[in-house]
Amino acid sequence: MAIQTVGVIGAGQMGNGIAHVFALAGYDVVLNDISQEALNNALALIDRNLERQVSRDKISAEAKREALARISTTLNLPDLGKTDLVIEAATERETVKQAIFEDLVPHLRPETILTSNTSSISITRLASRTDRPEKFMGFHFMNPVPVMQLVELIRGIATDEPTYKALHEVVEKLGKTAASAEDFPAFIVNRILMPMINEAVYTLYEGVGNVKSIDESMKLGANHPMGPLELADFIGLDTCLAIMNVLHDGLADTKYRPCPLLTKYVEAGWLGRKTGRGFYDYRGEVPVPTR
Ligand SMILES: NC(=O)c1ccc[n+]([C@@H]2O[C@H](COP(=O)([O-])OP(=O)(O)OC[C@H]3O[C@@H](n4cnc5c(N)ncnc54)[C@H](O)[C@@H]3O)[C@@H](O)[C@H]2O)c1
Repeated sequence: MAIQTVGVIGAGQMGNGIAHVFALAGYDVVLNDISQEALNNALALIDRNLERQVSRDKISAEAKREALARISTTLNLPDLGKTDLVIEAATERETVKQAIFEDLVPHLRPETILTSNTSSISITRLASRTDRPEKFMGFHFMNPVPVMQLVELIRGIATDEPTYKALHEVVEKLGKTAASAEDFPAFIVNRILMPMINEAVYTLYEGVGNVKSIDESMKLGANHPMGPLELADFIGLDTCLAIMNVLHDGLADTKYRPCPLLTKYVEAGWLGRKTGRGFYDYRGEVPVPTR
């Protein structure tokens, strides 16, 4: 089946980036959220990010105009019923994702492929709550989507080969690179990345270093382009905590226990860049460490 129309659920950090790259690659995109404000912000951000690509001569002004014209938005989930591929990129909470799929499935055509951009939740379990586990896959983009080259493709236990091949072709059409991962908690990238970020938070919690010295150490001492705490703020501390909880519960190993300081930041609503404060305070001209 040729994929032409793509539904994206959730217009947050990931959803807007996913809509951006699909529209630029020639797909028609229907972007859905429960918040009109999120949809408005997403469109404004896509416009800004496309403009940046134009000013850097990466794309033409014509390509930008055409991409924007391919994106429509809706608060009404059943409007995604006629799409060929759905990418769910809503909040990282299993109950939220399950409810979305339950509401959406009755409106879908039988051939539509369903995917989730979840960072950690079991694809097999999400798929089992739908009417099409063989046409369900993990489709894990990296943040920021227009910049990052990798897409993890995660087969659930029931995913069939045509579905895998169809998504592999989509990744190629986007000009990105696919890596296949098995359906175990947090897949490949986050299975390795999140325990490192969590360990950086423990290093802060135990007073081994402060925010600045920890980030500088990993940038200058391990050649990482961003420090782990800066990166955590970029990803979102709520998402980091949710992934650690999935690793902890799913692998039943205490080495994945989330750092209490990470929990405290999330309790405070200091979720990183998206709320203006996390391990750094972004409300002034330059980010200022909060510890
Ligand atoms: N942030 C990252 O670096 C990153 C990277 C890869 C994957 N992911 C995954 O992508 C997903 C989204 O993460 P994000 O960082 O974009 O989160 P976010 O908080 O920026 O955005 C989530 C959006 O989902 C919307 N939403 C919540 N419930 C909804 C519903 N029932 N229907 C429609 N929309 C709904 C919210 O209004 C919000 O706009 C998560 O599963 C996350 O694990 C995140």
